[in-house]
Parts: sequence; C-alpha cells; structure tokens
Amino acid sequence: MASLAPLRDCQAWQQARLPLSTTSNEACKLFDASLNQYVTWTNDQSLGGLEGCLSKLKAADPDFVMGHVIANGLTLLGTRTSVVLDQALRRSMETMMELSRKQPLTEREKLHVAAVEMFAKGCFPKACTFWEEILQDHPTDMLALKFAHDTYFFLGYQPQMRDSVARIFPHWTPSVPLSSYVKGIYSFGLMETNLYDQAEKLAKEALSLNPTDAWSVHTMAHIYEMKAALKDGVSFMQSTESNWKDSDMLACHNYWHWALYLIEKGEHEAALTIYDQHIAPRLLSTGSMLDMVDSCSMLYRLQMEGVCVGDRWQAVLPMTKPHSKDHILLFNDAHFLMSFLGAKDQGSVQELLTTLQESGQNPGDNHQHQLTREVGLPLCQALVEVDNGQHDRAVELLLPIRYKILEIGGSNAQRDVFNQVLVHAALNCRQKSHRNLARSLLMERDALKPGSPLTERLIRKASTLHLME
Ligand SMILES: [Fe+2]
Repeated sequence: MASLAPLRDCQAWQQARLPLSTTSNEACKLFDASLNQYVTWTNDQSLGGLEGCLSKLKAADPDFVMGHVIANGLTLLGTRTSVVLDQALRRSMETMMELSRKQPLTEREKLHVAAVEMFAKGCFPKACTFWEEILQDHPTDMLALKFAHDTYFFLGYQPQMRDSVARIFPHWTPSVPLSSYVKGIYSFGLMETNLYDQAEKLAKEALSLNPTDAWSVHTMAHIYEMKAALKDGVSFMQSTESNWKDSDMLACHNYWHWALYLIEKGEHEAALTIYDQHIAPRLLSTGSMLDMVDSCSMLYRLQMEGVCVGDRWQAVLPMTKPHSKDHILLFNDAHFLMSFLGAKDQGSVQELLTTLQESGQNPGDNHQHQLTREVGLPLCQALVEVDNGQHDRAVELLLPIRYKILEIGGSNAQRDVFNQVLVHAALNCRQKSHRNLARSLLMERDALKPGSPLTERLIRKASTLHLME
C-alpha cells in the first residue's frame, strides 16, 4: 500500500474533529486501518487484510459502535448479502443498534448508525441523506463520503456522486490523511457526468501524488473508454499495470476496462486472454460482486460480437447461481441472468425471474424492489427473449425503458452492455421498423462516441441489412 499517515489513535481522531466513542487506541487504529483499505481498494496483508482488521477491531472493543458501523456498512455495500438473507448480518445489525441505544454517542455517530440501518432496509436515498447530513458538519468524514459515493453509484445518481464530493473538496488539504484519494473519488463523479477534462486533471493530480491509487487509474480508464481513445487506453493500462495490479479489490475491474478496449478494437482473442489470465482467476479467488458482474459482462459482450466463449460460462455459474434469489441490486440480477443464460441453466433463469417478480410485488421501502416492475423485470425478460431469438419482443421490452436503466446504477461504461443488447436485438428483428431503429440508435451512438470501431462494425452490419432489403 502507498505510504499512509500513521494510523490514528483516540486523540488523533479527536484532533481531526471526528471523535470516536471508545477508549481503546487499538480499536481507533484498526478502524483507521479498515477505512484505509476500503478507500485504497487494497487488502494490506501486513494489517491482516480488511477482514482481519474488522475482526481484530471487534475484539479490541466489542462495544465500539463505529467499529460495528464500518463492518456492517462494508458487508452491506458489498451487495453479496443482506439482512434478509444472512442471519449473522442481522444479528450484527441488532448488536449495533442495541449498543447505539445504550451509549452516549456523538450526533455524527448516531447519523452513521441511522444511515447503515437505512441502507440495510434498502432505503438507499434515505441513507445518503444521513451521510450528507454528516458531511455538512464533518466534511473530512471519509467513511460518510465513501459510503455516500458508493450508494449514489448503486442508485445511478450521477450528479449527486459528483456534487457530494465538490461540496467538501476544499476541506481536504494535503495534510488530511487520504486527501489525494478524494481527488480520485471526485474525478469519477466528474467523469460520469461527462466533464472529462476536469476529471482527467484531478485523476492525474491524484496519480502524481500517488501512482498506486487504483481508483484514479480507473477514472482514467473510463475517460479513454468514453472517448474511444483505445490506443491511449491500452498503453495507459500497460504502462501503469504494476501500480494497480496489487489493489486486489479493484485490479479485476481495471483489467476488465483494459479488455473493453480490445473488444472495441475487435481484438477478441486478446480480450479473452485478459479474461483467462486476470479476470476469471480473480473472480474465483475473491468471489466479489464486482468481479462477478465484470466476468458476466465481459463474456456477454464477446458473445454479442459473435465470439464463442467456450465453456467459460460454466466456470462462472457456481459463483452466480447462489445469488439467483438475492435481489439486492437489479444491476447484479441482470448480470447473474447473463451467466444463467450463457450456461444454459434454465432452472436458475426461472428461479431468478420468478423471485424477481415476487420482490417487485410488495416492494415496501426497498428502493431496488420499487424499480423491479418498471425496469428490472422488462430488462431481464428482454435478455431471455434475446436468448430465445425473439428479437422483436426484446426490442419492445427494452425500448420504452432505455432511459430508465440508469436507475439500476452502475457506470455508463458498465450499462453500455444494455445499449448494445438493444442495438443487436434491433438488428436481428423481423420487423423493418425495428431494423430502422437499429440504424437510428447507431447514429446516436456514433454521435456520442465518435470513432468507436465497435459502433462502426455495427453500422456496417446495419447497412448490409439495408442493402439486402
Ligand atoms: Fe469502471
């Protein structure tokens, strides 16, 4: 890990105007160590990794509420499990709530507890409101900043992702621990709102201070992607690889971005090599949700390009199958479904669709479930229709929701897989009007991202169809 300031004890947190309600210096330092690893996307083995730190943190002071907040928050934001599915997490949340009622906490800590409680209930926007309330008075509260940032990402709230950081950015002077990482976090929000020049300036500043900042590398990867600057993207990833490949929570995703350039360029074999050497092995070793969705997205994109991915879906299936009934994020659901279809596991396809429908029937306060009927179900059904060769039906499902898909979260680059699904479906339609739609969608795509070889290939395909009519 890059050189970090010494881990903060009780007094240091107090001096930073972020006092923690514990008398254990060790707990304070372990809280800091956990926070550092979360922000840097890196398990620091010298600290026992993130999991190791969180266990030691609980042992150092079992009553330390913010220790429970960071542990529960990280589990929940990992989106691999939920309080509905996981009894241990449910108990851990109850402990956090009970401890928070028994102790005199600061207002900031109470808001942290409330925010994690809201997130656990699926009330993501409300959780963000609490984190923003914290940031109003405590602009250097990194945990609130990062939890809010990640949750805005899940919500597809792009301007909020940017503005949340803009509001506190001047407070992160160089002496504040982790300040260079805030530049990277801010740059991502700027990039997702198409402010590429500002985003690039900040990401480069962050990287000049700390070349191992994998999240700033990631912003740069997105900028090259959005501009179809594929040659520059590949050489950037190549030349910086040794700086970010050990950031084990993000390396797979950065390799995924690298492979996207290769798919764009039509270098499918090279993309598969990255998949086999870096993406699939990391998925198997981490089992993280990000690595899972990246694997699905990558194989699905290659298939749309007409590439045979062999038995690779079969290796992904054991990772995704246990999540068919989770319904924590619709974005995840759509990617699990890709793997079920790819592996021809009809049972899992049906299980996902049936339970998804159920989750949308009584959504309650759960924000994702509220979106199920309008966005999640038609999106998933469209993927099934494509798989069945019912392209006209897929277009009818996708076209009305194409601008709503943003609400299931993820980045513009990640959600582009759904734009591609619609174009491919339209190209394969029986109805002439749908094939004309493909041409207009491709014109739109070309206008937004000129110079994309992938778009150019599809335009050539569309004009061939036109000539055949
Ligand atoms: Fe990304």
